[in-house]
Amino acid sequence: MSTSIWNGQGQRIYMQEVGTRDGLQVEQQFVPTADKIALVNALSEAGMAKIEVSAFVSPQAIPALRDAEIVMREITRKPGVVYTALVPNVRGAERAIDAKTDELNLVMSASETHNLANLRMTRAQSFAGLAQVAALAKAAGLKVNISLSCCFGCPMEGDVPETTVLAWAQRFVEDLGADGVTLCDTTGMAYPGQVAALTQAFRTRWPGTELTLHFHNTRGMGLANVIGAIDAGADRFDASLGGIGGCPYAPGATGNVCSEEIVHALALMGYDTGVDLPRLIAAAQTLPGLIGHDIPSQIVKAGRRLDLHHVPADFDAIRERALARAS
Ligand code: COA
Ligand code: ZN
Repeated sequence: MSTSIWNGQGQRIYMQEVGTRDGLQVEQQFVPTADKIALVNALSEAGMAKIEVSAFVSPQAIPALRDAEIVMREITRKPGVVYTALVPNVRGAERAIDAKTDELNLVMSASETHNLANLRMTRAQSFAGLAQVAALAKAAGLKVNISLSCCFGCPMEGDVPETTVLAWAQRFVEDLGADGVTLCDTTGMAYPGQVAALTQAFRTRWPGTELTLHFHNTRGMGLANVIGAIDAGADRFDASLGGIGGCPYAPGATGNVCSEEIVHALALMGYDTGVDLPRLIAAAQTLPGLIGHDIPSQIVKAGRRLDLHHVPADFDAIRERALARAS
């Protein structure tokens, strides 16, 4: 491994916020629409490259995101930021296009079992449906990204072979003309060596396709996986504000890697994420009030590395006693 992975030398890393979709979709407490809009606007101002604003899914399936249209229509669009949304089917695509979404994020699982559990279809049925969605998006001039769930393992099947993941990626990139692919570690099963191998394989085969890595921090390997992916040529990561989130069909699943933790770490390593960290942290600090519970973010709890603390109130006395003992 090169020694330069620890010294980014200003290399650009694109941070994509998914907290407003992957995060909020599992929250019990409905976040009011105006607060969602304010949150997306704060994330735009903080410098996220792409924001997954919501999901145009069945409101019965995910009531927390039933206001996707209003949020997408009423956010303030910052030039250069891509506003994407998760779309499972043609109905969702029509709604997303109507609400002026920039990019449609299609979703299916690389694992047959997870696809059936999550989307109630076989992978072949999902692909056939998503082919129609991609055609609609292309006709409307929108970009298409495909998020492949469980690329690094399925909580019900176990390992998912790299050849299986690449075969599905190939069908989306080469047959449907997808502009981007997200390799998702839906339930935190990925580890750095595996991540580096799949990233490298993807990059070699489709150097012109936008590649995103999407890690959940379920087993504490999120940051290690991000670094492993960068070392293998990745430059785009999904992350969620505060580290919120989970998957409704994966017991014990936890949130995505935490946006402010990744930005903080990459900044110390000399990468340029384009993100204003204090603004991002300020946005994360509003989350407990919105969702009604504590958030995983260690940066919100502990502050940045050099956010220093006051010395103890009796510090002068401590020093005097210590110096007196020394003499
Ligand atoms: N937007 C709005 N409503 C939708 C919709 C969409 N994209 N897709 C389906 N619906 C509605 C249908 O109109 C129907 O409503 P009705 O009962 O009032 O007629 C109902 O949902 C069921 O539709 P059906 O086509 O039978 O779909 P389904 O029940 O098999 O659900 C999904 C399939 C995938 C659309 C649905 O389960 C879903 O949206 N799930 C969310 C998955 C998700 O986001 N998971 C987490 C991220 S990976
Ligand atoms: Zn996810």
